[in-house]
Amino acid sequence: MKRDLICGLDIGTSHVRAIVGEVNIDNSLSIIGVGTSPSEGLKKGVIVDLDKTVEAITHAMDEAERMVGTAIPSAFLGIVGSQVGLINNRGVVAVAGADKEITEEDVERVLQAAKVIALPPDREIIDVIPREFIVDGYDGIRDPVGMVGVRLEVDAMIITGMITSLRNLYRCVERAGIAIEGTVLNSLANAEVALTRDEKELGVVMLDIGGGTTEIAVFQQGHLKNIAVLPVGGDHITNDIAVGLRTTLVTAEKIKLEHGAASIKAIGEQATIELPQISGKEARKVPAQDLVLIIEARLAEILHMAHEELLHLGYQEPLPAGVVLTGGVSLMPGIAELAEQIFQTTARVAQPGYVGVKSPIYSTAVGIIHYAQHTHLYEAKEYRGRRNAIPGFFNKVKSWFMDMFES
Ligand SMILES: Nc1ncnc2c1ncn2[C@@H]1O[C@H](COP(=O)(O)OP(=O)(O)OP(=O)(O)O)[C@@H](O)[C@H]1O
Ligand SMILES: [Mg+2]
Repeated sequence: MKRDLICGLDIGTSHVRAIVGEVNIDNSLSIIGVGTSPSEGLKKGVIVDLDKTVEAITHAMDEAERMVGTAIPSAFLGIVGSQVGLINNRGVVAVAGADKEITEEDVERVLQAAKVIALPPDREIIDVIPREFIVDGYDGIRDPVGMVGVRLEVDAMIITGMITSLRNLYRCVERAGIAIEGTVLNSLANAEVALTRDEKELGVVMLDIGGGTTEIAVFQQGHLKNIAVLPVGGDHITNDIAVGLRTTLVTAEKIKLEHGAASIKAIGEQATIELPQISGKEARKVPAQDLVLIIEARLAEILHMAHEELLHLGYQEPLPAGVVLTGGVSLMPGIAELAEQIFQTTARVAQPGYVGVKSPIYSTAVGIIHYAQHTHLYEAKEYRGRRNAIPGFFNKVKSWFMDMFES
């Protein structure tokens, strides 16, 4: 039986995660494969060691493939927002057919027209997102296919990325034997599973607090409006614990995950934590309160920085749907309450609603699959052998990009 599989690859600072989804007959998605590998080749979301990154991708993909029981030759990639720019642009075309009925090809052409912008030489287009279509002056159209008109316009958001860092990312994935089908901005991927349609309409801030980065995304009127990335995350908390409690990073990470909390209220006041013996030092007990104070201080700093960034972007008032937290650090007990104090609005932790991947650490990878399935990135196809490049969206973008510079 032919299976429609989509793989999402989230290459993060602390982990590489590969998730394989199967598209069911009713177009719903089942998660059938999950692979995770610790990642050591990235700093602050950017690749600094190619070999280590290739190794982590290979490992995560192998694990996912074993679960699925078949080779996964290609994947969609998440792109970190720090290297990314958002540009609004319009495209206009005349509707081609004699009967003036708008077809998929007209939509494709108008999106290409929107892509014709002057880009600095160090940037390339990652994605084009139509905000609305305008047919003969009537705006607010989400899907114009089948309508009748003469002039088709699109108001689109162009996402551009830094060529050098993207090239390194593509190179790592290709060296791991995986063809790239398309790329998705991490924030758009996360929003697929972390945010509701109402939240995006009303206005919401999404914070993805990972190992080395905190990605801030603002959605309003159903669309992504702004992104910003701070080079801080859960690894800084681990570092603080190691220094503050005089222990190793490995132990600090372990006790953070086992006993960590963002406020004293989330733990019993009498609780103590056992620190194992390290070179020359006896095993000892420390009050859990000491651990929580360290975590709370750094987490509050990260959230304050994110809030400052939001003010800087021009959002002086809290957005109506508040703050939604995702990424590994959002699992810290008490984080939503801390975010509520700092942002002076409601906050909740997001969870992808899929069996087996309910944790927010999977939001990006699951969101990549969702985004690929629900948008123009994914066309039903048969899986071919590994190393057999699939002419997907990535290649299309590449050729449009080349066209622009050749013409
Ligand atoms: N249960 C938990 N409680 C607190 N922190 C956690 C928990 N689980 C994971 N983390 C922390 O979350 C971080 C990893 O999150 P995530 O997997 O989202 O990062 P990443 O995507 O690899 O990194 P980035 O997005 O920054 O590139 C680590 O610092 C880890 O210690
Ligand atoms: Mg991440």
